[in-house]
Amino acid sequence: MPARERLPALNGDLAPTQAEARQPEAEQSEVPLADPVTSAALAADPETALRLLREGALAVHGRLTDASNAVLYCTVALDGLTTPCVYKPVAGERPLWDFPDGTLAGREVAAYEVSAATGWGLIPPTVLRDGPHGPGMVQLWVEPDPEAEELLALQDPAGPEPGWLPIVRAEVGPGRTALLVHRDDERLRRLAVLDAVLNNADRKGGHWIPAADGRLYGIDHGVTFAVAGKLRTLLWGWAEQPVTEEAFGVLARLAESLDGALGERLRPHLTKAELAAAAERVALLRRTARHPLPSPDWPSIPWPPV
Ligand SMILES: Nc1ncnc2c1ncn2[C@@H]1O[C@H](COP(=O)(O)OP(=O)(O)OP(=O)(O)O)[C@@H](O)[C@H]1O
Ligand SMILES: [Mg+2]
Repeated sequence: MPARERLPALNGDLAPTQAEARQPEAEQSEVPLADPVTSAALAADPETALRLLREGALAVHGRLTDASNAVLYCTVALDGLTTPCVYKPVAGERPLWDFPDGTLAGREVAAYEVSAATGWGLIPPTVLRDGPHGPGMVQLWVEPDPEAEELLALQDPAGPEPGWLPIVRAEVGPGRTALLVHRDDERLRRLAVLDAVLNNADRKGGHWIPAADGRLYGIDHGVTFAVAGKLRTLLWGWAEQPVTEEAFGVLARLAESLDGALGERLRPHLTKAELAAAAERVALLRRTARHPLPSPDWPSIPWPPV
C-alpha cells in the first residue's frame, strides 16, 4: 500500500492510545513493568521469544510519546508467560521520501533476520504480525541494565583516553570543543559490521540497549536496506581498519545465506534492488575486509548523537 494511503490512520485508529504515558508510571499499576533480568533471559532465547511474539495475545498498554512513529508499549501472553514488547503498526508509520517502498516494520523484521543469521544475536527477536491496530512489527522489549557502563563519552579534544575510540570533535559551548568517543568494545564492533551490512541510517546512542546479562541489543531498524549508501552511525572508531577474523567468517556465511535461506526470508520485506544491494554490500566488505569509511556525500553522524 503506498505510504500516503496509510497516513490517515495515524491520527485515527491510533488516537485512543495517544494520551497514555511513555513508560509505565508508578500510578499505572496495571501496566506490567519490564524486569531487566527476565527480559535479558528471554532475548537470549529466541526460540521461546519468537513463539511468544508470534502466537501470544497482544495487549497495548501505552504509547512512547517521544518516538517519531507510533511505538506502542505492549505485552504478549502465551501459556502463562507474559512479557513486554513493542508493537509498531504499519498504520502509524510516517512516510519517508527516501524509503518509498515496503514498510518500516518489514525492514525491522528483515534486519532481525540478518542479525539472527550472523549468530551474534544483536537485535531482539522481532516478528511481523497482526495486532489491535493492524499488521506491524512486534519486538521483544529489552529493559536496559541500570548498572551498565556508559559506551559513549565526551572527552578532552586531545584524547581519546585508553579504551576509547574517537567519533567526532563537537562544540559543547561557546569556543569549547570536546571529543565524542565510544568504547573500544567487541559488542559495538560487531554492531558496526551488522550496520554496514544493513546500511543503517540511524545508529545513534539511544539505539542500543545494554541488557542485564552483559549483551548489547540494537533497536530501531526501520531506516535500513536503502540501495544508496546511507550509513549514519556513531560507530566510526574502526573506520578503514581490518575487520576481525570472526567478522570475516560471519560475512562469508552471510554471503552464502543471502543466496539461499536468508534471501528467501528477506524477500517478502525488501525490493529486488534492495536485496541485491545488501548482497553487494556484503561482497564489498569481504573484498576490502575493512570497516567502511564515512561517506563524504551523506551526513554520516546522527545529531544529536543520542
Ligand atoms: N525492543 C525494545 N526494547 C526496549 N526499549 C525499546 C525497544 N524498542 C524501542 N524501545 C524504546 O522506545 C523508544 C522509541 O523506539 P524507536 O527508537 O524504535 O522508535 P522511533 O519511532 O524511531 O523513535 P525515535 O524517532 O525517537 O528514534 C526507544 O528510544 C527505546 O527507548
Ligand atoms: Mg528511534
